[in-house]
Amino acid sequence: MEKKNIDWGSLGFGYMETDYRYLSTYKDGKWSEGELLTDPNVVLNECACVFQYAQTVFEGLKAYTTEDGRIVTFRPDLNAERINASAAKLKMPTLPDGMFIDAVKQVVKANSAWVPPYGSGATLYVRPYIMGTNAVIGVKPADEYQFRILTTPVGPYFKGGAKPITIRVSDYDRAAPNGTGNIKAGLNYAMSLYNIVDAHEKGFDENMYLDPKTRTKVEETGGANFLFVTKDGKVVTPKSNSILPSITRRSLIQVAKDYLGLEAEEREIYLDEVADMAECGLCGTAAVISPVGKINDHGKEICFPSGMEEMGPITKKLYDTLTGIQMGRIEAPEGWIVEI
Ligand code: PLP
Ligand code: COI
Repeated sequence: MEKKNIDWGSLGFGYMETDYRYLSTYKDGKWSEGELLTDPNVVLNECACVFQYAQTVFEGLKAYTTEDGRIVTFRPDLNAERINASAAKLKMPTLPDGMFIDAVKQVVKANSAWVPPYGSGATLYVRPYIMGTNAVIGVKPADEYQFRILTTPVGPYFKGGAKPITIRVSDYDRAAPNGTGNIKAGLNYAMSLYNIVDAHEKGFDENMYLDPKTRTKVEETGGANFLFVTKDGKVVTPKSNSILPSITRRSLIQVAKDYLGLEAEEREIYLDEVADMAECGLCGTAAVISPVGKINDHGKEICFPSGMEEMGPITKKLYDTLTGIQMGRIEAPEGWIVEI
């Protein structure tokens, strides 16, 4: 299919309306046959649970054009698993086996003209979400739901592209109450909006959240997990059950070990040891791996030796290998790449 006439290289991380979106509705205990719609607007009752009590969960994955022109997605089975875990926490119905990947395939295929070409620096961001749609005024879950997927072509998440970013240590927590920090729910992100705007106004790209209980351990940022490289070349990422279990992070640990022969470990990381790290990056579907140059801890600056100009050498190797796998330049582990 002929691609849309877009300057792919100049795209940032924004919304652009594409031709089709997917919808399945849940009523009387079952999901309907999915359909593809052309109307990007959603019309719901004013009292829908999603509006009143933010009963909504979402996922994020990308579709890539490979070097040989195929369209692929990266480990969508893990997004399928995670959206069900998120839905269960918000008392929403889960999706039956196979439904999520089938829906992703349908909507990406229908929008294949919007999947940015290989080498353009852009990708098609795929945003599945489930929301409670019937009127609810007492505090309780909805009985009716919509599972939707929208797609939009995107460029880099942080404005400098691959340039290292600056973040600050936050005084607030990202997680919503009830241990829901490790799911992707609308409310978690709404609760972080004040803090992200405040960070941007003060010149920081993101917030570093600490564990809410002791405020001594590194958790994650508003939209990505952390990855550090120690001075002796080991890849370490925070172990915590209140951060989002990033698919990118889990994949990078395996890439570090199996492709790069590095030691890689998930463990508790104290803010106190961060100053001794050689490299720092934020990892996620949107962030890919965005290098962090500097962390501001209440006025005290932690600068990484890799500096503010470019990615550190191990971060760069991880980035090249991961994107190489996603774009079909490097052979992927079994099951990681799902062709559309
Ligand atoms: N942490 C948060 C809070 C996120 O929103 C995201 C983005 O999805 C991630 C981490 C990274 O997760 P993944 O690599 O699965 O995209
Ligand atoms: C993602 O990386 O998919 C995210 O959801 C991050 C952010 C856009 C919320």
